[in-house]
Amino acid sequence: MSNAYYNMKVAAITQETSDAITLHLEHPDKQNIPYVPGQFLTLIVPVNGQKVRRSYSLCSVPEEPYFSVTVKRVEGGLVSNFLAENAQVGQTIEVMAPLGNFVLKPEASQKRHLFLFGGGSGITPLMSMLKSTLKYEPQSRVTLVYGNRNLDSVIFREQLEKLEKQHPEQLKVVHVFNEALVDATETQEHIGLLDRAMVLRLLENLKVPGFQQELFFMCGPEGMMNEVREALNFMRVPANQIYKESFTAPTTPETHGADVTAAADADEIITRMVTIRYEGEEYQVEVKPDQTILEAGLKADIDLPYSCQAGLCTACMGKCLSGRVHLDEREGLSDAEIAQGYVLNCVGHPLTADVVIEIG
Ligand SMILES: Cc1cc2nc3c(=O)[nH]c(=O)nc-3n(C[C@H](O)[C@H](O)[C@H](O)COP(=O)(O)OP(=O)(O)OC[C@H]3O[C@@H](n4cnc5c(N)ncnc54)[C@H](O)[C@@H]3O)c2cc1C
Ligand code: FES
Repeated sequence: MSNAYYNMKVAAITQETSDAITLHLEHPDKQNIPYVPGQFLTLIVPVNGQKVRRSYSLCSVPEEPYFSVTVKRVEGGLVSNFLAENAQVGQTIEVMAPLGNFVLKPEASQKRHLFLFGGGSGITPLMSMLKSTLKYEPQSRVTLVYGNRNLDSVIFREQLEKLEKQHPEQLKVVHVFNEALVDATETQEHIGLLDRAMVLRLLENLKVPGFQQELFFMCGPEGMMNEVREALNFMRVPANQIYKESFTAPTTPETHGADVTAAADADEIITRMVTIRYEGEEYQVEVKPDQTILEAGLKADIDLPYSCQAGLCTACMGKCLSGRVHLDEREGLSDAEIAQGYVLNCVGHPLTADVVIEIG
């Protein structure tokens, strides 16, 4: 895992909607910083004298001149509102190298149908995947189902319209608005919630025969993603064809990963020493019950990687080589990763006295 930091200059800002801006960031001098569509940048923003980190998915594709991230205001949110009000062309923003496992690697030989389900700001990683597929997978088809309040809240509206006109055989964009439109437009829109019934109805019409594979990617509010997942389960879509990115921690306990939590129930979260192996060094860190392993490591001045601090993005991921760790949240990890011993330090607490975690 890369833990490189860069200073990137804001080259331009696009006002996408009344509450969303896109920051176009310059590549630092002569540095090739690779990324895969779907990955995110961690912005490190000084707010009220403190450096605060937030993850923002890249909506650009690697061959574009800038790294572009779109920030949508969250009510009462610290960083999203700070950036909306203060970001300026010419300023420099510290960022961490791109990270994330919610990715789509385009391959020219593929002939697949990608269904992208987005809600609000969740369009950002899907936009990168969509553009990349259109460019590099000429035999593949992309169907984007994009849920928003109304037409005015559609991020990338003009870009999507343009792309659809340029690639009529390859791209289909279906808008779902939960407010009725006063003014009907040429876009294909559906009114209502992007719920299970709507997804089933749409997929019935949008599926096209002749593709080798169908893949489903979703990013948006938790409720919407649960509905999409239910519809796909109903259609018996295999789990390995469904990919999901969460911007916020789930509120429903059953999504917290019963296996991990159950393992923790028998143990106690008390003050324990943890061994952290990172960048060739080994550190002994005392982790108090009210701390996560990440918090204890940072307090001990170890420059550990992290981004969302909510168990979502995997920036802080490590492998537990011995002992057991309780995770408050495991949204970012797959069952296979859990089985292989991967843990998220930002939501991890040692359960045994012999915990050794290797990072990177
Ligand atoms: C992998 C990843 C990629 C992300 N990509 C993007 C992106 O491309 N564009 C983007 O705008 N945001 C994205 N986010 C969300 C972003 O990192 C911040 O969480 C968001 O900007 C809110 O930060 P804040 O400091 O303004 O709010 P905070 O002060 O951290 O939070 C205020 C409150 O808002 C809630 N909240 C946080 N995010 C959301 C949300 N998205 N919707 C509703 N409520 C929320 C929090 O739970 C909290 O209760 C991403 C998050 C992750 C983990
Ligand atoms: S910092 Fe994002 S999962 Fe830990």
